[in-house]
Amino acid sequence: MPRVPQPIGSTAPAAVTGRAATTGQANVTGLHPRTRLHIVTGKGGTGKTTVAAALALALAGPDRRVLLVEVEGRQGIASLFGSPPLDYTELLLAESGPAGRVHALAIDPEAALLEYLELFYKLGPAGRGLRKMGAIDFATTIAPGIRDVLLTGKAYEAVRRRDRDRRHVYDAVVMDAPPTGRIGNFLNVNAEVEHLARVGPIHSQAASIMRVLRSPQTAVHLVALPEELPVQETADAVAALREIGLPIGAVVLNGITVPRLGPADVAAAADGSLGVAEVRDALAGAGAGGTADDPAAVASVRALANDHARRLQTEAGHRDTLLALGLPVAELSRLAGGMDLAGLYGLADSLGGQLQRWRAAASSQVQAS
Ligand SMILES: Nc1ncnc2c1ncn2[C@@H]1O[C@H](COP(=O)(O)OP(=O)(O)O)[C@@H](O)[C@H]1O
Ligand SMILES: [Mg+2]
Repeated sequence: MPRVPQPIGSTAPAAVTGRAATTGQANVTGLHPRTRLHIVTGKGGTGKTTVAAALALALAGPDRRVLLVEVEGRQGIASLFGSPPLDYTELLLAESGPAGRVHALAIDPEAALLEYLELFYKLGPAGRGLRKMGAIDFATTIAPGIRDVLLTGKAYEAVRRRDRDRRHVYDAVVMDAPPTGRIGNFLNVNAEVEHLARVGPIHSQAASIMRVLRSPQTAVHLVALPEELPVQETADAVAALREIGLPIGAVVLNGITVPRLGPADVAAAADGSLGVAEVRDALAGAGAGGTADDPAAVASVRALANDHARRLQTEAGHRDTLLALGLPVAELSRLAGGMDLAGLYGLADSLGGQLQRWRAAASSQVQAS
C-alpha cells in the first residue's frame, strides 16, 4: 500500500530533499572540470542570492577556496549569513571542512574603476581626487557599459589571480549576478563598450573578459521557481545567452514542494479519490486531532491532499518545460519555515550532491566514448 510520507521539518538540513538530478544532455556544458566562474542569474526574487551562496558552499570542499561576489550593492549575502556589510575587501564568510573556505566580496564599481586606473595609469593619490570630484559617477553615467566591464572585470581578475606558488587563489568564483532581464547586456561586455574608442585598455580588457566568459571556464546558471513566469523567463534567457555564445551551466529549480504523498497517491488525491486508508495515514502522520471515522476530518484531509497533489502536478509540468531546454535541472526544496543558516547549508548539501552526480555521469560518459 502506498504510504503517506511524513511532513518535512522546516529547517533541519537532513530533511532537505535533493531529488535525483536529471541530465538533459550528454555533455554537461558549464559543468566542465575547468569551470571556475559560476554566474548565477534568474528572475528577481527567485532565489539568486540564496542559490549563489549555496553553490559557493557546495564548491568549497576540503582545501578549496571559493569567492562569492555580489555586484548589485544590495548586501543580500551579508544579510543571509548575518555578517557585517560586505565591501571591497575579501572577507572570510564561512569555513567548510579542513581548510575549505568561502570568501565574499561586494564589487563596487567606483573602487573597481580606481583599481583599474591605478593599474593602467598609475594614478596614485590623484585617484582619490577623482573620487571627490565625482568623476567616477560621471564616467559611469556617460558610458553605462563601463560599469559592467568593471564589475565583470573584477570577477575575471579574481578567477585568474594566482599566489606565489602559481596556484589559483580561488578554485571557484560564484557571482550573484543581475536578473535575467539584464544578464545578456551585463555579460556581453564587448558590445557594451563598442561605442567607446575602438582601441585602448578598456577595449582589450573587454575582449579578454569576453574570451573567459565564452570559454568552458564559465557557466551561467539560471534560477527559476516552479511557476509560469519564472519558467518562461528562464527559457527566454537561455535563448538569449545561447545567441551571445555564453556557456550555460544548469537550471536550478528552486522552491519545489516537498512531496508528502507517494507518487501513486498523487493521481488519486488530484482526482479526489484518495482512499480512506491513505487519509487515515495522513491524519496520523500530521498528528491531526481527527480520526478517519470523523467525516469532517476526512473531507478536510482530502481537500488538503487535493491541493497538494495539484501543486505537485503543476510543478512537474514546469520541471518538464525546463528539462526540454536540454540543460541539467537541479532541484531545491522550498523550506517551509523560511531561510536560515541551517536551511542554507541543507540546500548547499543537496546542490553539492546533485553536482557530484552530474560530474560522475559526465566522466563515465567520457570514459565510455
Ligand atoms: N528554497 C527556499 N526555501 C525557502 N525560502 C527561500 C528559498 N530560496 C529563497 N528563499 C527566500 O526567498 C526570498 C528571495 O530569495 P533571494 O535569494 O533573496 O532571491 P533573489 O536574490 O533572486 O532576489 C528570500 O527571502 C529567501 O530567503
Ligand atoms: Mg538577490
